[in-house]
Amino acid sequence: MNDISQASVTPDPELTARRDAYNVELRRRLVGLLREGRTEMAPGGVRFEEPGVYTDPVRFEEEHRALFLEYPTVAAFSTQMPNPGDVVVFDALGPSIVLTRNKQGRVNAFLNMCTHRAARIVDECGHRNRLNCRFHGWSFDLDGKLAGQPGADGFPGIDREQLGLIRVPVGEKYGLIFVKGIAGAEEIDVDAHLGDFAPMIAQLEIDKARPIKQSVIDADANWKYVYDTYYEGYHFASLHARTIGALAVSNVMSVRHFGPHIHMGMPRKEFTELVDKPESEWPVSEYGGLYLLFPNISLNIYGMPDGGQFVSMSRVYPGKTVGTSRTLQISARAAHSNPDLPDSRWEQLHDFIEHVVKTEDYSVSETGQNNLKYAPPGFRPVIGANELAIQHMHSEIERILADYRRRNAR
Ligand code: FES
Ligand SMILES: [Fe+2]
Repeated sequence: MNDISQASVTPDPELTARRDAYNVELRRRLVGLLREGRTEMAPGGVRFEEPGVYTDPVRFEEEHRALFLEYPTVAAFSTQMPNPGDVVVFDALGPSIVLTRNKQGRVNAFLNMCTHRAARIVDECGHRNRLNCRFHGWSFDLDGKLAGQPGADGFPGIDREQLGLIRVPVGEKYGLIFVKGIAGAEEIDVDAHLGDFAPMIAQLEIDKARPIKQSVIDADANWKYVYDTYYEGYHFASLHARTIGALAVSNVMSVRHFGPHIHMGMPRKEFTELVDKPESEWPVSEYGGLYLLFPNISLNIYGMPDGGQFVSMSRVYPGKTVGTSRTLQISARAAHSNPDLPDSRWEQLHDFIEHVVKTEDYSVSETGQNNLKYAPPGFRPVIGANELAIQHMHSEIERILADYRRRNAR
């Protein structure tokens, strides 16, 4: 994976102070819940209004358009493409998108599609000055301009200037590169997209976190059925009894909404020892909880045992059909991590999470998805008051879907 220059990895003192304050505040809330022996709750349990939330192929197409193609998503960490000439291919949205960092250091995003006869241009991430189409050899510079056209005299009367790569909206801030999956040259206003969540994301200093490892997990389950598992700690004691359940307290969650986005935490097992201790005696903790970027991205901020932070991003995308999904996981080490710890510690934790997600969470999602396919008409799952973050996420999805349907009503 790409390295980032030493100059850029010094933690910012102001952001560090803010991060410490947020982490303390989160832990205070979680220890408070442990003291009271409860979790935060929504006013009540709910059932989905539509029975086909996870199974209806028409709804699936609407969601894909409204929540993915037309809605900003994170295509990459900035640290995956820090240098001019770095190129990243992002295929998870459906349309293939290619990102380039140009000579001035700005990120461009294009459909990964040749303007001659629409062939895919770039297959692999890497470093290059030109993007070359293998079909007939046209090439494009890092700003998408047509730079090479073998047999150019075969195209009289066609304006070369109009043959640049097709842009998609892009915006880069806080170490995250956002794109949309539809053609458009506008810049995504990341602060407007994040709203009140922006300062929460800023303090994570993802722009200085060094990527260590990434994986792709395909699952035979709807993207929401898969992603719901990230939204509650109710299942830790049962499903993860021997893995995450040994590390975190089950069914205790603190949830804060920031528009559609959510910050939530589940107490680490060691927090139970703090219940009877005054806060002045609490040891330092790097646990930051889950930062959930609507509708499909989870940033997991976890303290490493010997100092520093594990920053892991999971993005769950719709697959080719309503009953399939693809998850992209990438893990990074925070800039303030103990430099004596080898990268292998981050790799091990990445592998552990991938293994648990695959063999425990997603195996449940896959069998549940199959059951839903054959459930009696009108069967609707129940979401508990304790699963309040799932309730919030789904009600935001319904709001956006309703708006999409209104805009596209015939
Ligand atoms: S399709 Fe790309 S050069 Fe022909
Ligand atoms: Fe889980």
